[in-house]
Amino acid sequence: MQDKFSKIGFVLAMAGSAVGLGNAWKFPTMVGNNGGSAFIVLYLVLTFGIAFVAFLAELSIGKLGETDPVHSFEKLAPKYKKQWSMAGFFMIGGVLIASFYLLVIGWILKYIFLSFSSLPSTTDEAGAAFGNLITNDFVSSAMCFSIVFFIVFYVVSKGIKSGIEKLNVWMMPSLFILLLIMLAYSLTMGDGFFKAAEFLFVPDFSKITPDIVLQALGLAFFSLSMGVCTVPTYAASLPDGANLVKSTLSIIFINILVGIMMGLIVFTFVFAYSGDTTQGGPGLIFVSLATLFAKLGVVGNVLAVAFFTSLLFAGITSAVSMIEPFTFYLINKLKISRKRALVYIAIFVYSLGIICILSFYEPTSFKLLGKPFFDILDYLTSNLIMPVGAITFSIFVGFVLKKEGIYILFSGFMNKTMFEIWYFLLRFVIPVAVLAIMIYQILK
Ligand code: PHE
Repeated sequence: MQDKFSKIGFVLAMAGSAVGLGNAWKFPTMVGNNGGSAFIVLYLVLTFGIAFVAFLAELSIGKLGETDPVHSFEKLAPKYKKQWSMAGFFMIGGVLIASFYLLVIGWILKYIFLSFSSLPSTTDEAGAAFGNLITNDFVSSAMCFSIVFFIVFYVVSKGIKSGIEKLNVWMMPSLFILLLIMLAYSLTMGDGFFKAAEFLFVPDFSKITPDIVLQALGLAFFSLSMGVCTVPTYAASLPDGANLVKSTLSIIFINILVGIMMGLIVFTFVFAYSGDTTQGGPGLIFVSLATLFAKLGVVGNVLAVAFFTSLLFAGITSAVSMIEPFTFYLINKLKISRKRALVYIAIFVYSLGIICILSFYEPTSFKLLGKPFFDILDYLTSNLIMPVGAITFSIFVGFVLKKEGIYILFSGFMNKTMFEIWYFLLRFVIPVAVLAIMIYQILK
């Protein structure tokens, strides 16, 4: 019998998976640049109308299957076992994401070390320092990547209860406390804080275009860790009697709350020092923010350590959830120990991770189809594997599973009308909406 989460452990672990690097740079930048609260309203509509619906479908696959993704599909579709078991292989997407995601967490670790000593004090210097880390400093990149890699694999080697649950039970509250401390400090920055709040919350509906709608939907899927079997895998270890709907709402609430807190913190600093709000992604975190912290002297060092540590925690709790699905599958399929399964996955992830480092490293700059390997993995997973996975899982629950069986699963948590609405959205709205994002992303 596999080990199970406690009820709160499940919510924290799933929220830990959802809250990740996506919340730190994708969410704030997209909100800021795409119409402030108009984007937040749109994001909420898409999260509840689409992502929430598909998330419940993913949960039900795990809860009804109660084993790893491949075997869950086999068990739930006895007539077309072989064909449907293939759907479980979307879990490989998680392992692929982990390969480049761990590298970014490695950069964060490097910045925690830097925050103890000296951060670059001008944007030019900071840009050069970050550029140097990824293009010239193979040793630092590889070392930080290796440390993070060992932490993540060590946690997964301890299993669901004493590894993943324990990690999340202390990292998620710590992450929250760190964010609260930084938010309190941001409040003392008066003008900067108000400008940040205005930037994030004043709605500008004219900025909402079809392009933005699709991007927001992509963000909702990425942010809720969908389409790569993380949700069914964690749900297979759900304790009996857990309220699926309430748990999902809590996870979504925590995910949005952390995104907004991150946004307020990051942009307060950016506005207080008239930084560049159009910078997104790594530029925002490793260049703009790093410089701003440097301006604050010792307080800046403390805040920088707190900020990068909170990102480290957010990243690690997401990374473990990318690896667990495939680990669980190998244990069941090959009847091997958890440690041995992890050795196989580790070799794969480590090799891909090193290739990603080499793809930025100037002397090698390993490119595939003219793009760094890192970008290819990122593109392939976010734009192809995750959305196709999400549609496949929704179609499976909507058209292959028996309606009565799913109704029994949810009947304690929603009434008949709500169930019917959910079921309709799942069967007809989700596949069309997700297909639209994908086609758009590919044609763009
Ligand atoms: N949700 C995570 C984030 O926002 C990323 C993730 C994707 C985690 C897929 C697990 C699986 O960073």
